[in-house]
Amino acid sequence: MATPEKRDLVSIDDLTCEEILELFRHADEFREDLRAWSNLCRGSIMATLFFEPSTRTRLSFESAMLRLGGGVISAADSASTSRAKGESLADTVRVVGGSYADLLVVRHPEDGAARVAARFASVPVVNGGDGAHEHPTQTLCDLYTLWKEKGRLEGLEVVLCGDLRHSRTVHSFAYALARFRANIVTMAYPGFEMPPYVVERLKREFHVQATPASVGDLPGIVGSGNSAAYLTASKPHQLALFTNITPVHLEHIDAIYMTRAQRERHRGESTEGYPRLSGASLRSEMLKDARVMHPLPRTDEISYELDSDPRAVYFRQAELGVPMRMALLAFLLGKIRLHSPPTGFRTVQPGLSFARGLRCRNDRCVVNGEGARYLVGDFRLVQESPPVLACAYCGSEATAALIGSAHTKVYHRYNSAEARRIKPENRVYFESEEQARTAEFRPRGDGEPESE
Ligand code: NCD
Repeated sequence: MATPEKRDLVSIDDLTCEEILELFRHADEFREDLRAWSNLCRGSIMATLFFEPSTRTRLSFESAMLRLGGGVISAADSASTSRAKGESLADTVRVVGGSYADLLVVRHPEDGAARVAARFASVPVVNGGDGAHEHPTQTLCDLYTLWKEKGRLEGLEVVLCGDLRHSRTVHSFAYALARFRANIVTMAYPGFEMPPYVVERLKREFHVQATPASVGDLPGIVGSGNSAAYLTASKPHQLALFTNITPVHLEHIDAIYMTRAQRERHRGESTEGYPRLSGASLRSEMLKDARVMHPLPRTDEISYELDSDPRAVYFRQAELGVPMRMALLAFLLGKIRLHSPPTGFRTVQPGLSFARGLRCRNDRCVVNGEGARYLVGDFRLVQESPPVLACAYCGSEATAALIGSAHTKVYHRYNSAEARRIKPENRVYFESEEQARTAEFRPRGDGEPESE
């Protein structure tokens, strides 16, 4: 079983802002001479378990560990592991994390799989990308690049462009940008907007307000049916001046983060007219000092002519991945200490497995996929009234209309006096009466649900 002190990096929220900034400083130190640290992690072994294709993430992790003097074992082709024989992720990480390896880096096609790995492994687990959910170490590289280029993060205007729905890098990046008080402009390809649970979380946890935005002339990006939204926590007093019909007008952009259409996660959607950055896009006055970012690999969304433009930093993001990951590995393996005091961020957030009436509605979530045979639904209560519960694995949200008592097996409307009297630890949440009845709960009294 997991030791209480181990730290995982499943979501970017598993690190505080102070810790992230300290890791940047260590990365700077490692970067001064990448070859000078070959004793730091001597004797430690990292396992990379990649059940989805990868070039940069896996190789930069392996390079980082080798530069720190550690060893690497790798299962990079799921067809060659016992997964092909039907072994669960939980069993795999239980075995590999321990006598085989001191730290695991896991990439998996299902949303929330990294949380499963973190719960079942006894050693630190790093999420190398789980489905469309999160990719926190790419975010560390993205933030580190932006911080070095601009000297700060607070108050930057960052455009997120393309397939915001399926790009896990964008989800982790958006949480981090909001936490560092940068402003976000979303310019999604139509139909590929940021998932509602991400936007809701930005609003609830980081006090972000969303309002329409107009971004002037960006050839290749606007004009293809994109509508922009401005997400900011920084200027509530100014935003109060705007209404839904008066968009925030942006005159200056600090970074434009382009993403690839994540075709491996599409279900037949067209990508005709997908945005494309070219030389003409960068002639816009608004992008004079902007940095062009991309997690890579690119397909067609950034033209090759941009590579020689000093504003293009996507290869820099990839290069900085090695010192950044060296800092992360050294930290998680206990070889460097960070001084910032621990705050409210906890690596494994306790869930509400007793909220058993609910089912995660995300059909790409690991609870509905490979975990269906061994995981129980697990939710976190993220809002009291009406009760909103987030899947502890993939973050998708459900709103409960009814609350039952695990004790009496009777359910009530969430806002009734009876529901309020149920002790929190006995509460069972349901979206509908049908769900409650299926779980063998009954309405109060004569069989009719109360009217309150
Ligand atoms: C990203 C990923 O895998 O999510 N790649 C990466 O790790 N640098 C982005 C992508 O594949 O589009």
